[in-house]
Amino acid sequence: MNNYYEAIRSEGAFDAAEYELKAIEAISKHVGSDEVLLALSGGVDSVVCAALLAKAIPGKLHCIFVDHGLMRKNEGDEVEDAFRNHELHFIRVNAETRFLSRLADVTDPEKKRKIIGEEFIRVFEEESGKLKGVSFLGQGTIYPDVIESGVNGSANIKSHHNVGGLPKNFDSSKLVEPLSGLFKDEVRVLGKKLGLPAFLVNRQPFPGPGLAVRVIGEITVKKLETLRRADAIFREELDGMQHRPSQYFAVLTNTQSVGIKGNKRTYQPVIALRAVTTDDFMTCEYSPLPHKVLSRVVSRITSEIPSVSRVVYDITSKPPGTVEWE
Ligand code: XMP
Repeated sequence: MNNYYEAIRSEGAFDAAEYELKAIEAISKHVGSDEVLLALSGGVDSVVCAALLAKAIPGKLHCIFVDHGLMRKNEGDEVEDAFRNHELHFIRVNAETRFLSRLADVTDPEKKRKIIGEEFIRVFEEESGKLKGVSFLGQGTIYPDVIESGVNGSANIKSHHNVGGLPKNFDSSKLVEPLSGLFKDEVRVLGKKLGLPAFLVNRQPFPGPGLAVRVIGEITVKKLETLRRADAIFREELDGMQHRPSQYFAVLTNTQSVGIKGNKRTYQPVIALRAVTTDDFMTCEYSPLPHKVLSRVVSRITSEIPSVSRVVYDITSKPPGTVEWE
């Protein structure tokens, strides 16, 4: 069904107003009087897809937003707030306790990913089971996803990249992918046109398993809280830069280090800062951030977060490093 939406894209420069009109017409024709279910992750593609679908089929879109408790600071509320004035049925599932109890004592990154993926499917199935008569499934697949997974394979790539995925044997004619002809920058322009806040549409990539891949080793509520605070400070300081890196975030390492706070020696986990510049995330360069900026960030983190006394900056490019630490 990808071609159906890829074809509504005109040749030449992208015109968001024209695309919006054509997409609304195509979605209405495709879905008819039926209803659509969308898993909303809070990422750029899924939020723009939700806003577009809500406009095309007002009142007939159900969005399930699973808050697994591994989001960044305030993220869950921000996503929910952004959709207050859109005509859709927004279902937020606060499933932190459930995810964290399954992740207790798990340190292996692949195992963390597997558990989160499984639990996500369970929560999603439970919630979608409560909705009756919904036969279409929306997905924020974009053109690079289509290319990456080969012809007609768009569904796979989104599920591969993110937790969850499509139900087995899903009828692809019931898949609504209205962004499948667009590039990321065009999706952002369309999102603004649809009235979404700039901070949401300009968002940097964020892994489906969330902070689980950025708390190295065992995940606890306390560690997540420390990481959220450090990450928010780093992002706040960099958000206003004229030439922002492509992605920047904090990691809570599982290395403890000695420090001094007041007159006392402390023994606390080391925070790592990561900022990279890239076009495609397949390879990347570390961002040579000005020392002034790094100093300000570290000074804020160590003074505002009592449980942190040492911060390091990762200057590894990809390859050999990856963007995430896992
Ligand atoms: P790596 O660490 O493999 O990351 O160099 C490359 C890019 O992919 C993002 N990433 C993910 N994105 N679901 C996603 O949607 C995931 O599970 C996932 N894991 C990594 C990472 O943040 C970087 O932008």
